[in-house]
Amino acid sequence: MKFDTPAGQNPIDQLKHVGKPIDRIDGKFKTTGTAPYAYERHDVVANPAYGYVVGAAVAKGRISRIDMAAAKAAPGVLTIVTAESAGPLGKGNFNTAKLLGGPEIDHYHQAIALVVAETFEQARAAAALIVIDYARTAGRFDLAKELKGAPLHSEKGKPPVTKIGDFDAAFGTAPVKLDATYTTPDHSHAMMEPHATTAKWDGDKVTLYTSNQMIAWSKGDVAKTLGIPKDNVRLVSPYVGGGFGGKLFIRADVILAALGAKAAGRPVKVTLTRPMMFNNTTHRPATIQRIRIGAGRDGKITAIAHESGSGDLPGGGPETAVSQTRLLYAGANRLTSMRLAVVDLPEGNAMRAPGEAPGLMALEIAMDEMAEKLGMDPIAFRVANDTQVDPEKPERRFSQRQLVQCLEQGADRFGWKQRSAKPAQRRDGQWLVGMGVAAGFRNSMAMKSAARVALDKKGIVTVSTDMTDIGTGTYTIIAQTAAEMMGVDIDKVVVQLGDSDHPVSAGSGGQWGANNSTAGVYAACVKLREAIAQKLGFNSADVTFADGKVRSGNRSFALTEAAGDAGLVAEDAIEYGDLGKTYQQSTFAGHFVEAAVHSLTGEVRIRRMLAVCAAGRILNPKSARSQVIGAMTMGAGAALMEDLAVDTRFGFFVNHDLAGYEVPVHADIPHQEVMFLDEVDPTSSPMKAKGVGELGLCGVGAAIANAIYNASGVRVREYPVTLDKHL
Ligand code: MOS
Repeated sequence: MKFDTPAGQNPIDQLKHVGKPIDRIDGKFKTTGTAPYAYERHDVVANPAYGYVVGAAVAKGRISRIDMAAAKAAPGVLTIVTAESAGPLGKGNFNTAKLLGGPEIDHYHQAIALVVAETFEQARAAAALIVIDYARTAGRFDLAKELKGAPLHSEKGKPPVTKIGDFDAAFGTAPVKLDATYTTPDHSHAMMEPHATTAKWDGDKVTLYTSNQMIAWSKGDVAKTLGIPKDNVRLVSPYVGGGFGGKLFIRADVILAALGAKAAGRPVKVTLTRPMMFNNTTHRPATIQRIRIGAGRDGKITAIAHESGSGDLPGGGPETAVSQTRLLYAGANRLTSMRLAVVDLPEGNAMRAPGEAPGLMALEIAMDEMAEKLGMDPIAFRVANDTQVDPEKPERRFSQRQLVQCLEQGADRFGWKQRSAKPAQRRDGQWLVGMGVAAGFRNSMAMKSAARVALDKKGIVTVSTDMTDIGTGTYTIIAQTAAEMMGVDIDKVVVQLGDSDHPVSAGSGGQWGANNSTAGVYAACVKLREAIAQKLGFNSADVTFADGKVRSGNRSFALTEAAGDAGLVAEDAIEYGDLGKTYQQSTFAGHFVEAAVHSLTGEVRIRRMLAVCAAGRILNPKSARSQVIGAMTMGAGAALMEDLAVDTRFGFFVNHDLAGYEVPVHADIPHQEVMFLDEVDPTSSPMKAKGVGELGLCGVGAAIANAIYNASGVRVREYPVTLDKHL
């Protein structure tokens, strides 16, 4: 189905199932331990051997000698895979460094061997017996140093620099201006379920039970890396214990499990241990961001510049931290740019809201600083610079933009009036208390997405798609969509996800999963409805599906009857035309935080958080709220705790476990509230929905930093805002 004009009235608008806060249908499986994860596929793979990954002990250089004799002779060892034994391997479209390194080493903990043994302990013990000598070469590990003179760079298809008007002239003459630099550190996804794969070969076909967000991308990359036809690869990933962008693509576990199973002649399972996760897989790259804003005394921005620098391995990409600045605020004279340095640290890549998450951490402190310079309330300053058109392409309007409403309704709800404009005015015992606000922004992307829907003689509607549920609620919103379209109860819908044998979906990434995957299910259901109508001789323009029946005029049949013994199946995809060129589709939020700073120690406690989101139709307010509060918690981590510490001598992240890399937990966050504004966006898809999972993170870090400033009067521009920066 081609979607190229704004959606009209359609069966989804009945909202009998869609838009209801129903419980996650996978929730009971996850909480009772019955959801099968990739490393636990005893149900489908008998007698797997265990693979243990050996990571490179240097960041850059070459293996000069590798002695595996003792390891090969160790108890239980079946085989050892290295780059030499594996032979030439390709590289996937979504990987920068090789997933199996050697003899050249591209980064610390790059996988260089897999020991396969009868048990995990035997594989690990044997791995410790491998003797490796390295010839180390000098690496580039200091981002600030490497950014000097680094070239402009950008994502494919997006310009590295945008210039509108004359920034320098306008900034030079602006009566009120800010020029400040902000830094964000490297972040790790730190998802609960580490990367893991169980691999099983049948002849020349391999099945990979894995933990992955984007099945079709990853199937292609497995084929490319192993040099086998795509048709010989099957990926299965029905449950994912968190991804956050770290599982958008295949990692070493997938390729090494496949190679290990081939070499051992038996299924092999491989998980990365927690200490391997931080340097072996990807991370969100650190940024250094310079922001300049000039405004008139009336509070109108006349000049805005955002220049960001980040680093990655050769062939990698930048952290696109200026994306939101191209769209968020008005201002006639504008400049954005991204520079990319080569650093030999582990591979950078997407982490939840790549670009906007660290970009807004900087921009929204800058907006707070400008408001103070102007003597304006930070909300009033943002409202004064709202725009309903793309500031770089004024002919393009936002399809929906309720940023002002998010900020103003949030202010009422949060009690913003109580905030003192002057910092460090409110005390509670030894604590100083303050409030902060930030705007949230994230784009909503249209992606082709397909599904198959079957109706059987028992009236069961089965949806199959390679879409994944990474803890987001996909099973549930897809069931709600199919129930709405086919006029059945939700317990009559079976949802099958995460299998590359199913039709190719949008996948889970970039907060595009919910809107696009349900729109794909909508398209398949439209086809199934037509097939049913046609079979019954009904005019498809005059058919209703409700209460397990299909009706036209005064005739009606039970769906069980309509299905017949053979049942009916339909498959279709949602595909997008030029609407995205006509309208800029984005999501908006207002984030509010109350924080306390201890007057003697500088410790920070978050007291309350509120997010007000405008993100199209909310398909399930309960799962959407869970996405947002999870994201707000992640934002607290980014603001206060998360920091991959770089050893600039040896080139690795020092804190590679969850004791050294701290992430917040529920107990750290006393009170969170989420409000969704009424919004139905007919330009987004027939679902009229958008994404919300990444929006929930965008802006949170700055709202916390601004609350801390309002509490203590100390402005910290280097994340995380730890207590030492207060003393
Ligand atoms: Mo998201 S970083 O695209 O999983």
